[in-house]
Amino acid sequence: MSLFVKKPLSQMLAQAEGGEHGLKRTLGAANLIALGIGAIIGAGLFVRTAAAAGQAAGPGVTLSFVVAAIGCAFAGLCYAEFAAMIPIAGSAYAYSYTTMGELVAWIIGWALIMEYALGAATVSIAWSEYLNKLFDGRIPYEWCHSPFESFTDTAGVHHAGIMNAPALIILLLLTLLLIKGTQESAIVNMIIVFIKVAIVLIFIVIGWQFINSGNHTPYLIPENTPPVTDSAGKVIADYSGWNKHGWGGVLGGAAIVFFAFIGFDAVSTAAQEAKNPKRDMPIGILGSLVICTVLYILFGHVLTGVANWKDFVDPEKGREASVAYAISTYMTGYSWLATAVTVAILAGFSSVILVMLMGQSRIFYTMSNDGLIPKAFGVLHPKYKTPYKANWILFVFVGLFAAFVPGHVAGDLTSFGTLFAFVLVSAGVWVLRVKEPNIPRPFKTPIYPVVSTLGVLICTAMIVGLDAQTLKVAFGWMAVGLVVYFLYSKNHSKLRNPSDLMPKASDFEKH
Ligand code: ALA
Repeated sequence: MSLFVKKPLSQMLAQAEGGEHGLKRTLGAANLIALGIGAIIGAGLFVRTAAAAGQAAGPGVTLSFVVAAIGCAFAGLCYAEFAAMIPIAGSAYAYSYTTMGELVAWIIGWALIMEYALGAATVSIAWSEYLNKLFDGRIPYEWCHSPFESFTDTAGVHHAGIMNAPALIILLLLTLLLIKGTQESAIVNMIIVFIKVAIVLIFIVIGWQFINSGNHTPYLIPENTPPVTDSAGKVIADYSGWNKHGWGGVLGGAAIVFFAFIGFDAVSTAAQEAKNPKRDMPIGILGSLVICTVLYILFGHVLTGVANWKDFVDPEKGREASVAYAISTYMTGYSWLATAVTVAILAGFSSVILVMLMGQSRIFYTMSNDGLIPKAFGVLHPKYKTPYKANWILFVFVGLFAAFVPGHVAGDLTSFGTLFAFVLVSAGVWVLRVKEPNIPRPFKTPIYPVVSTLGVLICTAMIVGLDAQTLKVAFGWMAVGLVVYFLYSKNHSKLRNPSDLMPKASDFEKH
């Protein structure tokens, strides 16, 4: 049987129904939008907005958000078409299985591990940093850093990381919540989303009164801006590159803030738990994307109006904890808001981790049902009906990264995995429109094939723009995936070995 054997759409749809042994359909449109916002607003907004303004776009970071949002919208529209048509848990992996065949589906499933599992690890490490900030740095360095990190303090004492314990603890708590139930997780997510959106809105409304219009002039970084140096004379920001000033800088800023949009696609992983996926999937995916884009633009406008963008490259000023810096330095009388923002950041990071872990376990669940990974990943908890074994295995995998690997290593790989999925989903819409024009499509990507083609082109361009080291590690990861496929998955695939599709007595014993 060919490596490109495709899963028939009818079989996919039957699997989505799941019967009494399947995932429970408990999520409505509001839950789905909240799930999207839960995964979207996090480190990208609170950390990368200032970084993009300081390093490339200046106040034009608002335009960077618009550019990144347009790129995401093309992919988002394609996701919406698929998620409404094939409401199954595996997201891009499942869509590729029916459009481009098993090998491509495997490759995308393997890439999604980079997006979701490494994304969760990256954000849990950032969570640990902010928790330490909330405690004024009282968590011992050794217990909140990986063994690959060390520093010598002003007294000349050398500190070396042992393990990032807070990152591990937040992962454990969220894993337990996910096992307890999708609805419980959705409720906690909804509360967190409420808190973080409220604080973003409060910052926008109060901060608006402190905007100094001088900070917004000129709006883009001028070409002849001199480099910024630290006290030792080392260059820490150079604006001479094409993507570091003017309109080029707006594009450079878009690549930096792209991370802030990652997560809207996670809504599609919950398609099998949506009450009315045909209507609510497009609402969840596109609704969360639109709401976040509007909030991001307003947030960027206020942040670069309150503090000057040059402050955001200066280590003595707002290079770190930039939002708290802008509030405490320029918004007199609102120091409580700086603490509230830190709490919102911690809450925000928690929901990003929660939805990423949930998305990954649902992708594992679908891959396991297809036989491409071991059965354990597909076993549902007898009472809670959640894929609890997948959740535990994921906790160990993500926990190892979070506890022992520095955060920046995983960050860019997350962008690679996401963009790779965006490219295949956009291409998949086109393939299925040609091959299966008559399947009912409750939601259709508009202006086809312009939108899907632009989705492929823009996301491929962003992949090419990632740094060479990230691309090397990402392709290494993909090569390992191919080895696993040829040694294990190809031989266990239920589609390639149809006798495995027949239920066995042992399948029933486990429920
Ligand atoms: N969009 C998510 C964040 O910004 C990944 O943290």
